[in-house]
Amino acid sequence: MGLKKIALVGGGQIGGVLAQLAAMRELGDVVMVDIKENLPQGKLLDIAEAARIDGFDSSLVGSNDYSAIKDADVVIVTAGLPRKPGMDRSDLMSVNAKIMTAVANGVRDNAPNAIVIIISNPLDAMVTLFQKISGFPKNRVMGQAGVLDSARFSAFLAWELNVSVKDVNAMVLGGHGDTMVPLLRYANVNGIPVTTLLERKYKGDKAKAAEVLEAIVNRTRKAGGEVVGLLGNGSAFYSPASAAITMTEAIIKNQRRILPVAAYLTGEFGIDGYYIGVPAILGENGVEEVVGFDLDEKETAALKVSLDAVKGNLAFMAELGF
Ligand code: APR
Repeated sequence: MGLKKIALVGGGQIGGVLAQLAAMRELGDVVMVDIKENLPQGKLLDIAEAARIDGFDSSLVGSNDYSAIKDADVVIVTAGLPRKPGMDRSDLMSVNAKIMTAVANGVRDNAPNAIVIIISNPLDAMVTLFQKISGFPKNRVMGQAGVLDSARFSAFLAWELNVSVKDVNAMVLGGHGDTMVPLLRYANVNGIPVTTLLERKYKGDKAKAAEVLEAIVNRTRKAGGEVVGLLGNGSAFYSPASAAITMTEAIIKNQRRILPVAAYLTGEFGIDGYYIGVPAILGENGVEEVVGFDLDEKETAALKVSLDAVKGNLAFMAELGF
């Protein structure tokens, strides 16, 4: 049986880590396409030369031509500009929408059956645009945001509670931006609610526990910007790549994991006709199912604010002619 084929469109910072992770986990053969001459060829040659050391049999091929992604099973898109300090994700809109148009045409023409994971920002708008231009079924086009936002939330909780992050389960819904909605009600450490653990840490001082939790939520919302500020040039790339590789593995191995992804909603959570971050079962068909459930009043209101932000981005994109 041949290996699955994973195509990376965009060979910058995230693209490079994606290629290395995909190879090291032997998820499939990897091709990378970028408009910069020699860049994808050089990066993948470099990674391929470590195969003996890292012990993988995946092949890695870089190209400047979309024909290289022919019949890919999974395509991960990072083509686009990353944020610079002071920039909002929506500041990237006009440049990245133009790039995404070219990418969607290239993927549709060369890998018409692929399942596509978009990482380029502003995420919700870029996923919507890719689906519209490619005409791919909506279950085969999704965005990576929630796996990373949830991982960041989990990391901050683990650091605060001084426990292993492996036992933390925490999920973030909504758009990929300052309006994301961390689901506090369900956040737990091996089944114990984080609120219970924070109150225990602060010896029953509920107000202090709530204050600490709020600070963690705020840090989660601004986590991408925190990294952008520190790097000074470019945005986070290790963690977004890890998140997208987890999604790719769930799809390629038909794991049916429930992961938070930007998926197209048709009435779930009271939302119809938009891509937004929600829990979904990922398997061989991409988004197998969106896992909708009742939110409480506060969560519903927060998700509405998030949806309004997504709508605002889409309206802005439409104004720009996309
Ligand atoms: N086709 C293919 N590749 C393209 C195209 C295109 N039309 N236009 C630009 N690229 C490539 C660039 O040449 C560059 O190598 O996309 C790559 C982007 O890489 P980086 O600038 O290093 O950006 P990165 O940090 O990888 O982030 C990519 O993901 O998280 C988001 O906000 C981030 O939108 C950004 C994207």
